[in-house]
Amino acid sequence: MTTNPAPAPPAVEMISVTKQFPGVIANRDASLTVRKGEIHALLGENGAGKSTLMNVLAGLYVPEAGEIRLHGRTVTIRSPREAFGLGIAMVHQHFKLVMNQTVAENIILGLDDPRFHLDMARVKRQIEEVGRQYEIHVDPDAFIWQLSVGEQQRVEILKALYRGADILILDEPTAVLTPQEADALGQTMQKIVGEGKTIIFISHKLDEVIRFANEVTVLRKGEVIATEPVTADTSTSHLAEMMVGRSIVFRIQKEAVDVGEVCLSVRGLEALNEKRLSALRKMTFDIHQGEIFGIAGVAGNGQKELAEVLTGLRHATSGSFVLKGKALTNAHPRAVIDAGIAHIPESRIYTGSVGAMSVSDNIALKHYREGVGPFLNRKGLRALSRQLVESFNVATPGIDTRAGTLSGGNLQKLILARELTTKPTLIIAAHPTQGLDVGAAEAVRNRLLEQQQQGVAVLLISEDLDELFSLSDRIGVMYEGRLMGIVPAATATREEVGLMMTGKGK
Ligand SMILES: Nc1ncnc2c1ncn2[C@@H]1O[C@H](COP(=O)(O)OP(=O)(O)O)[C@@H](O)[C@H]1O
Ligand SMILES: [Mg+2]
Repeated sequence: MTTNPAPAPPAVEMISVTKQFPGVIANRDASLTVRKGEIHALLGENGAGKSTLMNVLAGLYVPEAGEIRLHGRTVTIRSPREAFGLGIAMVHQHFKLVMNQTVAENIILGLDDPRFHLDMARVKRQIEEVGRQYEIHVDPDAFIWQLSVGEQQRVEILKALYRGADILILDEPTAVLTPQEADALGQTMQKIVGEGKTIIFISHKLDEVIRFANEVTVLRKGEVIATEPVTADTSTSHLAEMMVGRSIVFRIQKEAVDVGEVCLSVRGLEALNEKRLSALRKMTFDIHQGEIFGIAGVAGNGQKELAEVLTGLRHATSGSFVLKGKALTNAHPRAVIDAGIAHIPESRIYTGSVGAMSVSDNIALKHYREGVGPFLNRKGLRALSRQLVESFNVATPGIDTRAGTLSGGNLQKLILARELTTKPTLIIAAHPTQGLDVGAAEAVRNRLLEQQQQGVAVLLISEDLDELFSLSDRIGVMYEGRLMGIVPAATATREEVGLMMTGKGK
């Protein structure tokens, strides 16, 4: 007589986990089951609670309620060390490597087992061996600072595997990778689960979940919405709908706008970069009122410098620009703002906002005329802040919360709110949806279209051709500081624009 063997218990079961922060319930009654040997995606918008739930599993946070079982056994995890002792390792979004140490030194860092205080030659051989087993190639003697971000990530993964992790959590690992590196990571993950280990892979990118994961759990506002297998029939729109809670229109409905008179006129503009090399060469173009003018190009071809010159943050060495008849070349940034140019900067965390300041003080950065500054009207500012937070749907416990604790999408909405309420004439938006999930990106795009409908001119710098084609009226393509050509978005092809991005064509 034969009996079927009992199925192996799941590698991870999190049962009814609740984790609160002051003013926020990051995880509410969240349950997750991950089978051994699978790549399980945890999908959700910014702020949905993905990192928090995994930080609970990795021992960084102790939840208010809930139970965790590993391979069928109930465990308590009170610290990362305890989590690690149970075979759980997490690769965080911001790596925790020591820059001036080597790969090998980082991998054994903190291992206080006397066995490890020793023979570096042997440690290096073992690292190479683990690297071979999982096809993760890094030089154990390289210093961390010498490595690209993608390589540093491989070190983190190798470190976890070297130390014998059995359940590996990767928090948005592809956010810092090129498409090619992301593909390579996909293969590494396959290799790891092929060896019987388990991966939980946090992402907000739908196509990636479909490509890499066997199963997906969707989180929304701290709650688990569903767990489903990922099959050939799983569609991005279905995942998006679960993630956002309503259907998402991937192609924006762009209404025809009557393009008005010239708003911004740029003539022969030139500037240098940090290395004092030519960054902008004879840039000449006009943007009309009610027009979205897209700038396409591979990053580093002068887009950043263009935005900086037009906002008064970088000196123009030659040429000029005029906003509605007002000459602004090399004007003070304050004068540029007063003239009606709003700026959604590229690195919103560093130049767009001040993390240590509250939501309302960040709004005050731009609105001091309405009465903040050292003197005035704090009451007016607080009322304005509350109104903006509400109308722009910024998820924050309150206006006194530090901006640095907001998720990327909410920080971007906060900056948009602040910039748009200055009633600008021209908006310079640099990569406004970069790093945002679909829901937040859709909200940001719709805000820009709303502004355009009201006759505002928009300079949209983006590396996302889909975004440029769906939002722009015309697209200018930059290559090595030059405008290679300007094409109408309605009739241009991606091939044509792609060719110009490499300096060819036109
Ligand atoms: N250390 C913290 N202190 C206070 N609030 C936090 C902290 N970490 C996360 N949050 C809040 O908890 C919620 C979930 O955040 P998080 O788990 O980081 O989401 P996700 O990883 O899905 O983007 C958000 O509202 C976030 O602002
Ligand atoms: Mg996160």
